Amino acid sequence: MTKAKTLRRWRPLQIGIIGTGHMGGMLARAFAQTATDDIYIYNRSRPKADAVAASFPNIIVCDDWRSLIARANTAFLCTKAADGINLATQMAPYLNSEHMLVTTISTIDLDRWRDLTPATPVKLIPSLTQTANKGVMLLSYPRHMPVELQQQLESRLSQIGKPFTIDEGQVRVCSDLASCGPAFLATICRAWSQAAAQTASVDRATAEQLIREMLIGLAALLESGMQFEDVIEQISIPGGVTECGIRSMEDLPQNLFARVHAETARHATRGHRPPIGDSVVSPRQ
Ligand SMILES: NC(=O)c1ccc[n+]([C@@H]2O[C@H](COP(=O)([O-])OP(=O)(O)OC[C@H]3O[C@@H](n4cnc5c(N)ncnc54)[C@H](OP(=O)(O)O)[C@@H]3O)[C@@H](O)[C@H]2O)c1
Repeated sequence: MTKAKTLRRWRPLQIGIIGTGHMGGMLARAFAQTATDDIYIYNRSRPKADAVAASFPNIIVCDDWRSLIARANTAFLCTKAADGINLATQMAPYLNSEHMLVTTISTIDLDRWRDLTPATPVKLIPSLTQTANKGVMLLSYPRHMPVELQQQLESRLSQIGKPFTIDEGQVRVCSDLASCGPAFLATICRAWSQAAAQTASVDRATAEQLIREMLIGLAALLESGMQFEDVIEQISIPGGVTECGIRSMEDLPQNLFARVHAETARHATRGHRPPIGDSVVSPRQ
């Protein structure tokens, strides 16, 4: 007779956020909005944390990281890389494998985090879209991380966005799509509104309004299950004006994004690496 496999019971997630800048501040607000449990936050300069907590009774500002990790078993580390390494080193004696250290610092490998901390490290690449509790949040797990723990984390994250697991090696390109993507598309839409205004048939504000409403409609179609191909096929009638417009694009869109991916990859491998998705940030405090 085979022994029934016993699933380990993990403690409920208690969320803490260290570094309440653009990413940490956005995550704190999103978590606080979507559940009533307390969210603990700590920032080096206290006023920034106080500003994030101001509108949320369930955000509690801690005096230091020690008091945060005494309360929170899932600490989101949302500082710049050098600050994060210093913090992880200082925190190491106070953490164990039952703590999760979820970090938005994508430029440091999970193996390096494992050397720095006894906590279970997880990489998280959020997107500005989580401000609206939408959009993908990319996750990379270390090898052998218990599935139950992953499920527990994803269950909480799914309240503020769509968790999507990737391998660490996929982080750069996937971040371009999910995290930088809204800024890339907004740049294209802004240029489109300028081009429309140059026809002298509409002013730029009207063009922007029409593009915005069109995008909201397109998002709803995609949400209802339509694929990109369906959208193209249903609008582009053979010989019609849409088909003519698409033909005029030739291979420009593909070449454009090939160039974007090449540039972001080149930038990320330079000596000082930029924040992934640094073009998409939550409103500044
Ligand atoms: N921005 C994005 O779109 C984006 C997207 C994906 C990933 N990331 C990554 O996420 C990380 C955070 O990015 P961000 O844009 O949110 O940066 P940010 O706005 O500069 O925020 C970093 C925060 O960390 C705080 N901090 C620094 N050292 C600290 C310490 N020892 N203890 C407590 N708090 C400390 C800073 O506090 P002070 O107020 O004292 O400076 C600041 O509020 C970066 O590693 C970035 O590469 C960013």
